[in-house]
Amino acid sequence: MKIPDIIIAVDGYSSTGKSSLAKKIARKFDFLYLDSGALYRGVTLFAQEEMLISRLGTVSPALQEALGRLELHFDAEGRLCMGARCIEQQIRSMEVSAQVSPVAAVPYVRAWVDEKLHEFGRRGRIVMDGRDIGTAVFPNAELKIFMTASEQVRAQRRYDELVAKGETPLLEEVVKNLRERDYIDSHRETAPLRQAADAFVLDNSDMTFEEELAWVQGLIQGKFGIQ
Ligand code: CDP
Repeated sequence: MKIPDIIIAVDGYSSTGKSSLAKKIARKFDFLYLDSGALYRGVTLFAQEEMLISRLGTVSPALQEALGRLELHFDAEGRLCMGARCIEQQIRSMEVSAQVSPVAAVPYVRAWVDEKLHEFGRRGRIVMDGRDIGTAVFPNAELKIFMTASEQVRAQRRYDELVAKGETPLLEEVVKNLRERDYIDSHRETAPLRQAADAFVLDNSDMTFEEELAWVQGLIQGKFGIQ
């Protein structure tokens, strides 16, 4: 199935499997995958290393100027790098997860990330996942998917992911972090997490990856009249 050079936006709550689905779409249809959350995580790691965020998550105004020195990019394998350093593993840690939402709520941080996303996304034929891709970053995206799943399923998935990476999280902490992030992400003033009016909702609590991909394929066939 050959699909046109469109932009696909995949938004939704924390740990709903947005990136797994987006990566599968990218592989299947030969699209470029862009993970917007990785950039917010990269900025958060930078703020932590530069001591520009307090333990309670208060962001120092000095971060704005410091962002002028921050260089983030994806390598050929899609891993996030800060200059010459690969930071993919660090940005997925609980420490970064605990502070990313307050950082992502800061308007100049969002403007900084948005500029990068537009730069990376210039070539079209991209699938991007995040919280505000279909509402704020690419409101004209031709296909918008909004993902959700039960809290229990989401927490278990994130817990298993962290364990597989060698971390030793507590399930209660993972649940707490998902709730906190969803709350902050949905209630912030700038580009809050919400479903775009023209998004298709995918609740994947009880779906396999194959079923998910078949659902997307059906959607694309229906929307673009492809056989
Ligand atoms: O993988 P997970 O769903 O847990 O989160 P992520 O996509 O890595 O995003 C991490 C955090 O970045 C989110 O909780 C949001 O606070 C923020 N984010 C955002 O504000 N806007 C986006 N487009 C993407 C992420």
